[in-house]
Amino acid sequence: MSGWALVPGTAPLRGVLVGAGGLGPFWAKELLASADTELAGWVDLDERRAVDGAARLGVTGLPTGPSLAAMLDAEAPDFVVNVTAPLAHREVTVTALEHGVPVLSEKPMAPTMAQAREMVAAADRAGVLFMVSQNRRYLPALVAYRDTVGRLGELASVSCDFYLGHHVGPDHFLFTLDQPLLLDMAIHLFDGARAITGTDPVSVYCESYNPRFSWFPGAAAANAVFEMTGGLRFVLNGSWCADGFQTSWTGSWRTVGAHGTAAWDGETAPRAEPAPGARITATAPDPGGTPEGRFHGLAAALREFVAALRTGATPQGECHDNLRSLAMCHAAVESAATGTRVPVA
Ligand SMILES: NC(=O)c1ccc[n+]([C@@H]2O[C@H](COP(=O)([O-])OP(=O)(O)OC[C@H]3O[C@@H](n4cnc5c(N)ncnc54)[C@H](O)[C@@H]3O)[C@@H](O)[C@H]2O)c1
Repeated sequence: MSGWALVPGTAPLRGVLVGAGGLGPFWAKELLASADTELAGWVDLDERRAVDGAARLGVTGLPTGPSLAAMLDAEAPDFVVNVTAPLAHREVTVTALEHGVPVLSEKPMAPTMAQAREMVAAADRAGVLFMVSQNRRYLPALVAYRDTVGRLGELASVSCDFYLGHHVGPDHFLFTLDQPLLLDMAIHLFDGARAITGTDPVSVYCESYNPRFSWFPGAAAANAVFEMTGGLRFVLNGSWCADGFQTSWTGSWRTVGAHGTAAWDGETAPRAEPAPGARITATAPDPGGTPEGRFHGLAAALREFVAALRTGATPQGECHDNLRSLAMCHAAVESAATGTRVPVA
């Protein structure tokens, strides 16, 4: 339980969505589909995108505009969902928090740790909830893998291979990043390692690089070794310009413990093989999946956010906790830049 202001009553919570690019419409669908929420307005610097997005979803009369501050004054929503590009995350989130409005934000919280700490401080000052949606945490197969890993006894290592050919064009915001893999994608896998093992980062050694044939301007590949609490080693081998034998978007995992090994392809049911004399079985994922045409995990994150606003129960991705996952990304970047092992603050 935590100290943010609760929203009393049982009426659906009114949410303003900010960002109508690639992912914004998927969040709009969730706000419309949930019995606990209403879509009260849609903001985008390019207002046309919000207007067109609303029309495509068959929503009429929805307030839209280019300015979040104006929308907050006009609509007085119960919460804001921030689905802008990362460079805008601080401005949008702090504007909402300073209006006393709770925020559910897309990952990564911010492009720098300094900005992220500023945002968390703004949430503390306002006394309202600020949560980052880490949608992989709600994958039924990840939950089953976490459960399976919990039976391995003392853990020695967890590794994640992530190899995909992510063919985006130069107009994508990833082209503005020096470290697109570590500063945009890796948060899913780093946060996933924390969720799966229940450990926190201590230090990291990382090398990042850009293959000569890469279509990204920034470093699209990295190898990182983290020391986690309890002495666990977590290794990420990743590349976003790796065509062929692609892993899932949640990577491919192996965790080794005293009682055996648990493996997971990032999508389907996890598997477990016991050490001699040990008895471990893999947990089957909960079959309740995501309805077709919707983006996985957003509905579950929205449910946790609403429950946190109603009850004070701490949600996954609560901003203070999420800082630890973001810190893994930035410590990895620092290690890659300095060639040294660095502590994860
Ligand atoms: N969880 C996931 O699996 C997942 C998948 C895709 C994207 N994302 C995240 O979602 C976020 C958005 O990604 P996207 O692909 O939709 O990006 P995008 O670039 O397609 O869209 C971003 C939108 O935000 C708008 N915008 C930018 N600054 C703004 C501001 N100050 N005020 C209002 N609007 C502003 C832009 O005009 C654009 O329409 C990113 O943080 C990204 O990392 C998460």
